[in-house]
Amino acid sequence: MQHLTKKSILKLKQSSTLIINEKCKELLNQGKKVYQFGFGQSPFPVPEKIVTTLKKNAHRKEYLPIQGLSKLRESISKNLKNKTGINYPKENIVITPGSKEAMLLLHVAFNGEIILSAPSWVSYEPQAIIGRNKVHWIQTSRENNWFPTAHQLEKKIKSLKKKNLIFILNSPNNPSGTVCKNLKELAAVAKKYNLIILSDEIYTDLTFCNKYESISKFYPERTFISGGLSKWCGAGGWRVGFFAVPSSLSELLENIKTLASESYSTVNSPAQFAAVEAYEGDHEEYKAKTLNILKSVGNYVYNNLKSNKVLINSPQGAFYLMPEFLNKKYKTSTELCEKILDETGVAMLPASDFGFGPKRMLTRLCYIDFDGSEFLKAMLKRNTINDRIIEKYAPNVVEGTRKLSNWAKNL
Ligand SMILES: Cc1ncc(COP(=O)(O)O)c(C=O)c1O
Repeated sequence: MQHLTKKSILKLKQSSTLIINEKCKELLNQGKKVYQFGFGQSPFPVPEKIVTTLKKNAHRKEYLPIQGLSKLRESISKNLKNKTGINYPKENIVITPGSKEAMLLLHVAFNGEIILSAPSWVSYEPQAIIGRNKVHWIQTSRENNWFPTAHQLEKKIKSLKKKNLIFILNSPNNPSGTVCKNLKELAAVAKKYNLIILSDEIYTDLTFCNKYESISKFYPERTFISGGLSKWCGAGGWRVGFFAVPSSLSELLENIKTLASESYSTVNSPAQFAAVEAYEGDHEEYKAKTLNILKSVGNYVYNNLKSNKVLINSPQGAFYLMPEFLNKKYKTSTELCEKILDETGVAMLPASDFGFGPKRMLTRLCYIDFDGSEFLKAMLKRNTINDRIIEKYAPNVVEGTRKLSNWAKNL
């Protein structure tokens, strides 16, 4: 009998990010202590004013335009102009149910091939496969802060001989937590070869040095920007994302709108009205406080975990670290993660899920296993965060780090 599922889809497995979350729940149900360093979701509540706006708009039941609420697109356009200096007019912005959907639709519409650099977010490759776009990998190194060099990018483009190509860049990066420092050089290569860049800026508001750096500044003519409310504003479950498209690529924008109209139609109306408040309102205090917490907790883990057995680049943004465990005992990063979960209760993801070969002993560590509401409340009365505060408000992160660090001593 023929398979009911297409061969290309059969090859895909469920995202390991979700699988590890399920495994943690299972262990918790058995009454075991688990340090949830696997699943990456903002620990903070959505700012109160934005929640109030959502409530006020709960009665909005009408379908909004496929491309999204005009006012919301206008405020995103203004916001991008302020941060990047680049003008993406509201006509070039489409609102999507999370930025993930925007990327998927781009893969479906695009006729060409995709360049990814390891490490890359888990969903880029499966999405390319769904869209039937071949993926080409560039391997990066710790010395280069886990981003490709301009030379590597150029070499890869040349080897692909004038195909239509999209390079996906994500900074701050999931899973490494590092920020790309060579945007200008990468942009120069992109320009030389007419490359299309998809700049995934879902974490860029969570850059610890507080500078919003976008490659669009150096190469606006063929750079897509994706973003949304999921990370900086803690509203992942609201599913509000956007895609900003340069005018020269309007053909792809039209295709994306068509695909949107034939699939989800439009993003839910109340959330779009609330998102206007997210982009127009003043949420600077919330942003500064949450950023300070993430930066302090990230640095705590970094300082207490790094050793001659555990190599890590310092936390620069988002909520991830990518430690490398120097050892000869375990053959794959999956085996390493399983052992760590068994012996310490610390759940992390293997770097083989992010584009590395199975033998690279890297893992993704997410340091947000704490009650974000409580931590944020405590920060309303103070500005500085010391180890005592972290021990009080992020006890699981502290204990999990201690367990992991002790475990690594025996490698
Ligand atoms: C690197 C990266 N890009 C995009 C997304 C998708 O975010 P959303 O679809 O919620 O906008 C995520 C979510 O985890 C992510 O980590």
